[in-house]
Amino acid sequence: MNETIKNIVTRRSVKKYQDKAVPTELVEEIVKAGTFAPSGMNKQSAIIIAVTNKEMRDRLSRINLDIVTGRGLKTSSGHSDPFYGAPVVLVVLAKKEIGTRVYDGSLVMENMMIAAHSLGLGSCWIHRAKETFETEEGKQILRELGIPDEYEGIGNCIVGYAADDALKPQVARKDDYIKWVK
Ligand SMILES: Cc1cc2nc3c(=O)[nH]c(=O)nc-3n(C[C@H](O)[C@H](O)[C@H](O)COP(=O)(O)O)c2cc1C
Repeated sequence: MNETIKNIVTRRSVKKYQDKAVPTELVEEIVKAGTFAPSGMNKQSAIIIAVTNKEMRDRLSRINLDIVTGRGLKTSSGHSDPFYGAPVVLVVLAKKEIGTRVYDGSLVMENMMIAAHSLGLGSCWIHRAKETFETEEGKQILRELGIPDEYEGIGNCIVGYAADDALKPQVARKDDYIKWVK
């Protein structure tokens, strides 16, 4: 197995983080990898909001939690912080008018999760980015950042140093995942 495939196969969603900042250079490498994701007709419909500011990170976490609890649900493991203590949140949005926006944005998310893992960092896709930017406060955040009301949230890629006991064993792949036609 080459290093790239090994990196893909060993990546895991990390749901427990150390209280340790991520160096800016590493965040820059991760977002750069995100921007090199393929996109429908190369329209590059996605954008990334790279959040390392604690106040903004906590604000996004609170909105996300409100969406979960507003549905009468709980976050995974009943955690009060849907971002599991990760210090960095890379929010992917994509242009509403582009038909491939969800695919485009999802590829950005995956590139960033793989890049984070390759750099020794943990990451996880945290959902409800779409709903976040449909709330009044979410729209206000976009206005504050000077982002026009043309974007739909796709996903939140949280990043940080995994806690020592963060990972459970990898779940086996289902038997019928691949249908060969030889
Ligand atoms: C579209 C999508 C949405 C997800 N949303 C959440 C989420 O909101 N919270 C969470 O803890 N994990 C979320 N995950 C992570 C999954 O729980 C995780 O990918 C899955 O359990 C498989 O684990 P693995 O990534 O370690 O293989 C999401 C993953 C995807 C692809």
